[in-house]
Parts: sequence; C-alpha cells; structure tokens
Amino acid sequence: MAVASRLDTGKAFARVILPTLAKGVVQRRRPVTALAGKVRVDAAAVATMKRFRERYGPEPLRLRVTGRSIALLLDPLDVARLLAESPEPFALATTEKKAALEHFQPHGVLISTGAERERRRAVNEDVLRPDKVDVRAIVADEADLLLRHVRGTGRLTWDSFAQAWWRAARRIVLGSFAREDVELTDMLQTLRGNANWAYLHPRREALRQRFESRLREHLARGEPGSLAGLGSVDELLGQVPHWLFAFDAAGIATMRALAIGGAGEAGIWESVRLWPTTPVILRESTEPTRWHGTWLPERTTFIVFVPYFHRDPDRLPYADAYAPENWPAPSDPGLVPFSGGPGICPGRDLVLVAGGAMLDALRDHLAVPTLRAPLPATLNHFELTFVTRRDD
Ligand code: HEM
Repeated sequence: MAVASRLDTGKAFARVILPTLAKGVVQRRRPVTALAGKVRVDAAAVATMKRFRERYGPEPLRLRVTGRSIALLLDPLDVARLLAESPEPFALATTEKKAALEHFQPHGVLISTGAERERRRAVNEDVLRPDKVDVRAIVADEADLLLRHVRGTGRLTWDSFAQAWWRAARRIVLGSFAREDVELTDMLQTLRGNANWAYLHPRREALRQRFESRLREHLARGEPGSLAGLGSVDELLGQVPHWLFAFDAAGIATMRALAIGGAGEAGIWESVRLWPTTPVILRESTEPTRWHGTWLPERTTFIVFVPYFHRDPDRLPYADAYAPENWPAPSDPGLVPFSGGPGICPGRDLVLVAGGAMLDALRDHLAVPTLRAPLPATLNHFELTFVTRRDD
C-alpha cells in the first residue's frame, strides 16, 4: 500500500484537511466560508485528491505522520466497505469527533460505543421518522409566514430564511411552545462554535448545563405532534442536541437547492451531493484491518473526503450539474451525503421531507435558479439571496 511522500502529506493537510476544518465542521464560520469561496478551496482540494489517485493508485493512501496511522481513501468501493463495517471494526466515535462533540452532546450516539451506542442508535431510529409528526404541515405553516415577509421586502436572504427554518425545527423537535425559544438555539450555537476548536477550546460546562436544563423543560412537556412526545425525557435529552445541531445543515442544504432550481426530495439529495454538509467522514479502527493485502494497525484514522467522491468528472458525467435522477438509489457507491451502512444518518428521511417541503413552498414564488452548470465547487449559503417573481 502506498505511503504519501512528505510533500504530498503536507499537501493533504494544507489543501484538503485544514481548509475543511477552518470553515468549521461543527458550526460554519461566516468569514472563513466567504474566503473559501473566493480562493476556491474546494476545487483545489478535489484536484489534489485526483492527483493522489493518479500518482498512488486506488488503494488507501497512508499519510506520513509521526506517531499516528492515518489513511486517506481514494476508491468508492473502499468507502462502501468502511461504512458497511461500522461501528466495528470501524468506529464512528473517533478521537477527534469525541473532542469536538463533547462540548455540546456528551451522550450523543455518534460518540458512543458498545451497548450504549446500540441503545442510543435505536432511540434515534425509533423517533426520527417523518411519519410520526406532521412535518409537512409545520413547514408549510412557517413557509407561509416567511413568504409574507419576503413579499414585503422583495427578497429572501439567508438570515430571514434561517429564522423561519429554526422556528420550524424547534416546533418539529420540541413542539410549538418552543417555537420562539431563540435563546435555546443560540446557546447551542455558542457551544458549537467552541466545538469547532475541539480540545483547543475549554469546555463551558456552566453554559452547557444551562442549555441542558432549558432543553429538559421543553422535553418534559412531551408535546404531542413533536418528536419530544415520542420518547422518554432522559433518553431524548442525550440525543436532541445533535438533532438541533443537524437541522442547521438541513437548512443550508435547502437554500442551496433553491439556488440550483431543485425540487422536492431529489432537490435536497442533489444539494448535499454537490455541496456535502458533512465534507469529511471519519472512522477509527478498533483492531488491525486488512486492505488490499496490507494490514493497517488498530487505531488507524480513516478519512473520506466526500467532495472528491461526489464531484469527480472522470467517474461521474454529471459531476458538476444538477442530476436529480440519481436518487434515491445512486449507482455509484461513493455518493454518501448521509453516510451509509449501520451508521447512516438516522435523520435523513426527516431532512428530505422537511427540506423538500420548504423548497417546494418557496420555489414557485422566487426567481430561481440563480446558478447553472458547471456548478461551483464552493457555494457560500450565507450570501445567497433570491428575489420574488414579478407575477407573485
Ligand atoms: C442536510 C442534513 C444532514 C446531513 C447531510 C446529514 C449527514 C449525516 C452524516 C454524513 C452522518 C454520519 C456522520 C459520521 O459518520 O461521522 C450523520 C449522522 C447522524 N445524523 Fe445526520 N445529517 C443531516 C441532518 C440530520 C438531522 C436533521 C438529524 C436529526 C434530526 C440527524 C441525525 C443524525 C444522527 C443522530 C447521526 C449519528 C448517527 C450514528 O452515530 O449512528 N442528521 N448525518
């Protein structure tokens, strides 16, 4: 199995890994996201990955890092294997993820292991089902109010969209009583900002506890018609911080889908293919594993840099175009916007229904699409603005 030269290891960090971290994996940083678009970091990262594959072949590429074993995946079939064989021997709960997510969700399934993980995963699968709550009605309601505002100002901006989206998210997850609790999601945002820094930022335990007790109050109401009504308070308390956090990605995906003229659930799928909101999927092996005849040691970190697999024109003729016909069952095993295998995103159906409903409610009233193929590698959602249609 190939080992990257020192120079190429440096390039993997400088052009692929660090720029992705700089944008903020847990909470997007606005200025860095803007800069990333201007200097085209995503295009450079995909080009770097392509060169690695040409130079070293399709097998996982080991990076030359002292004291650690790190492998960069370069082949879609290896991605499929890594995800299929999670959480054992390829654990979702990696050292880096734990350091980041403990800031706001110390009991989340994503950083849990063993029997605890199994139990928490079952809670997620059981509750995160769009058929249990009338997601479409909640979203339609909030979209309606948003449209009234949009007609008044003549435009839809990220900030106005985000306000409506968070109202819908709080209603879906916690019930209508929580609709206006902006402070709750603001507290979460601060904690997520710290999580970006993983171990480099001290944990703010007092703020986390304040957030948690506020969340507990909402969950204790168990409001019918919301996810909070579908499980026990103690079980949900550990999982809901991730849900609220992840609704952010779903909103970002929805705005981007609008920009490309996307429709319905396939529009959301394509949005997260073109601009994956989880750009890096990490796994850590719990035992030595064999790859194409070579053994990699226990505790190897495996990196899947998703934009490379979603945007490679050599493999995907539609790489930079809107191609909704790919979904829901893509033929390429490297298309993994929601991950795959036993650790696949348990919220994806909810995302598709909520995002798709919001998209369809808004698109008829706005002048879209604003972007056409070849679609850019980076799309800064903070700067997206849509004007209302003349006939609206
Ligand atoms: C655009 C929206 C979303 C995308 C693209 C997305 C994607 C993903 C991906 C790629 C993972 C795997 C992460 C890893 O292996 O490290 C994941 C995990 C997860 N997602 Fe999502 N997600 C989205 C929204 C949501 C929402 C709204 C919820 C809940 C309401 C949710 C709940 C979860 C949970 C609980 C996990 C952890 C699963 C586990 O550890 O087994 N996600 N998601």
